[in-house]
Amino acid sequence: MEEQSKYAFGVDVGTENVRAVALEVQNPETVKVIAYGEAKNMRGMRKGIVTDLSGPAEAVDKALKIVESMSGVNVDHAYISINGSHLSSEKVSGMIAVSQSSGITEEDLDRLEDTAMSGRISSNRRVLDVVPLNYTLDGQGGIRSPKGMMANKIEMVANVVSGLAPNIDALGRAMALANLEALRFVPAVIASARAVLTEKQMENGACVIDFGSATTSIAVYDEGDLQYLGVVPAGANNITKDLAISLELNTEVAEEIKLRFVTPDFAETGKEVTLRHAGETISFSQDEVNTIVKERIVDIFAHINEHLRRAGYAQKLPEGAVIVGAGAKIKGLAGLAKEQLKMATRIGVPGAGLSGIIEDIERPEYAAAIGLAQMMADDGRFSGMGEMKEKKPFDLLGFLKKKK
Ligand SMILES: Nc1ncnc2c1ncn2[C@@H]1O[C@H](COP(=O)(O)OP(=O)(O)OP(=O)(O)O)[C@@H](O)[C@H]1O
Ligand SMILES: [Mg+2]
Repeated sequence: MEEQSKYAFGVDVGTENVRAVALEVQNPETVKVIAYGEAKNMRGMRKGIVTDLSGPAEAVDKALKIVESMSGVNVDHAYISINGSHLSSEKVSGMIAVSQSSGITEEDLDRLEDTAMSGRISSNRRVLDVVPLNYTLDGQGGIRSPKGMMANKIEMVANVVSGLAPNIDALGRAMALANLEALRFVPAVIASARAVLTEKQMENGACVIDFGSATTSIAVYDEGDLQYLGVVPAGANNITKDLAISLELNTEVAEEIKLRFVTPDFAETGKEVTLRHAGETISFSQDEVNTIVKERIVDIFAHINEHLRRAGYAQKLPEGAVIVGAGAKIKGLAGLAKEQLKMATRIGVPGAGLSGIIEDIERPEYAAAIGLAQMMADDGRFSGMGEMKEKKPFDLLGFLKKKK
């Protein structure tokens, strides 16, 4: 009998861009990218947070239509990215007594987790993940997996990832409008880490930095686990705004200048550049452009350094930093980031271990969407099986009418 295909989907809902990826898992060794799609998020999000449901719903609907027509598979459930400076991680600890007779059970570990968490996360926050960091059994620390071991007393330290409940709810509602059910919300930078870091790098100590349009986030890994999560509410779009203000141009021209006229490694040229835009001739100094872009990047990475210090990992990550997000495509960014972070820095390319139509998405901006789909496959929560259902078209007008 032919084995049924299993599918996993990742949808990265960014402030400016929605990116979706579909994976087909034939057996654990063959994981194929079968479709990908993206759509501009024109409105309805600020700094990673949904401010109007219909904007991201429409963008997700568009991206999924591309994925569905490319793959012929119905995307009904997915792992979805979440972002914004409301996201954080905090360490919690707890201790319980256990019965000596049968060894430590799953139920004991659940009870320990409940004890460690109780009253630690405020009621307006929702827990997205609990990462057990280590266990101590009758005073013996450093235990990774205590199930089945014998002890009178067990203690745990865990890292709890959480976000503001209203922001998570709003994202879920926007997805529901696009007929998509979120199986899990994962901070975008954590999903990216799944796609660009190896287990060994996570073990030795590394961080992933997602340089997006309106946010820059960091996830620090050590001893195989997530140690810290932080989000800076500024990204590559702030560079565009700085250019627009300093050069007294509108943001459309400023964006074009950012994409076309930053010299590799911000090298001085002494050149005056002339650009035609919408019938107008615009002149500017290339060195001034480089300086403005560089200053904003330095400022963002100073905030990232602040997070690293808070995490206790500034200049303490042997595997260095991996930068993802479309902002990572600024020429010379890795070099500048390395100077600021004082550690090995490279641009993250997702797709290791995947086959299929991967070439077009082996780019830093696809790390989160690919990582989300990989996490869904890792967790064995496959979807999209069976016949392609007739999907309700996205009814934006109806939605807007109802809202009034
Ligand atoms: N080649 C490039 N060079 C420089 N910047 C680029 C390039 N391509 C895209 N960008 C910038 O990257 C930003 C978009 O990044 P990305 O798509 O990762 O953001 P997002 O995921 O929508 O936002 P966020 O993660 O902050 O919610 C824009 O500011 C865009 O100008
Ligand atoms: Mg993003």
